[in-house]
Amino acid sequence: MSHLDANEKVWNRLAKENSQFAKVATDEECAQPLLALDRRGWLPGSVKGMDVLCLASGGGWQSILYAVAGANVTVVDISPEMLKRDVQQASERNVHVKAVQASMDDLSQFETSSFDIVHHPVSSCYIPKLKPVYEEVARVLRGSGLYISQHKQPTSLQITERDQRNRYILGVSYYHNDPLPAVQDTAYREEGSVEYLHRWEELVGELCRSGFVIEDFSEPRRGDPKAKPGDFRHRGMFTAPYVRIKARRKTLVEQESSAPSIWIPES
Ligand SMILES: C[S@@+](CC[C@H](N)C(=O)[O-])C[C@H]1O[C@@H](n2cnc3c(N)ncnc32)[C@H](O)[C@@H]1O
Repeated sequence: MSHLDANEKVWNRLAKENSQFAKVATDEECAQPLLALDRRGWLPGSVKGMDVLCLASGGGWQSILYAVAGANVTVVDISPEMLKRDVQQASERNVHVKAVQASMDDLSQFETSSFDIVHHPVSSCYIPKLKPVYEEVARVLRGSGLYISQHKQPTSLQITERDQRNRYILGVSYYHNDPLPAVQDTAYREEGSVEYLHRWEELVGELCRSGFVIEDFSEPRRGDPKAKPGDFRHRGMFTAPYVRIKARRKTLVEQESSAPSIWIPES
């Protein structure tokens, strides 16, 4: 079974099980949608009338909040069951979202320069290579469009177990390219899914090489010093599980002016 089929199946199951990763937007969140989406002030003061792509973002959370805030929303996901939640929630809230089943690394259904914002929650781990994703996002964004993405942190994905002294073991090489082995602690992994580790070189370097400028970077805190071993917040004290990146697409003029005038071979 391909990684796409496997992950579609897993996320269809998680959606039906009402997983915590398939939560829908609440009334309280819908009352202040931009605050719910973004506490760091990365989004503009209003998204009214903007074209927003919620990428690999099914489940009825991000899409609904952007739609309630007045954006024209398209949500892409590999899982029809996750997308069903977006459509159901949109109808309940009397807003419209366009739901499209596709893989995040093939956005060929969309024309170049279609969106002002791409919002991409944690999901890049389900794809073996990030370059095609970043290049597609750069293509479908218009002008100096905003790309907000969140990713599983490579060190966290290297952890395979906790030893008897409650230390976390990096059991997978940083250079592991194949699908990650299954682990017992599924707090930061989805059981049955096919996941890949992306190194910083790929997460950040490839983003810059795909035509983006990074404007901000954050590590949402999941650790709690009072948490007991076995709790995800205990592990979160030792390594940040996620990172969030605010990037802006370089315009054609910026891309041309930042291109090196001489080529220096890499040593
Ligand atoms: C952690 S959930 C993110 C969505 C959720 N709304 C949230 O708030 O975090 C990850 C999503 O990625 C989707 N996904 C997995 N592989 C994908 C792929 N190749 N292309 C598009 N979506 C994919 C899953 O179906 C799932 O809905």
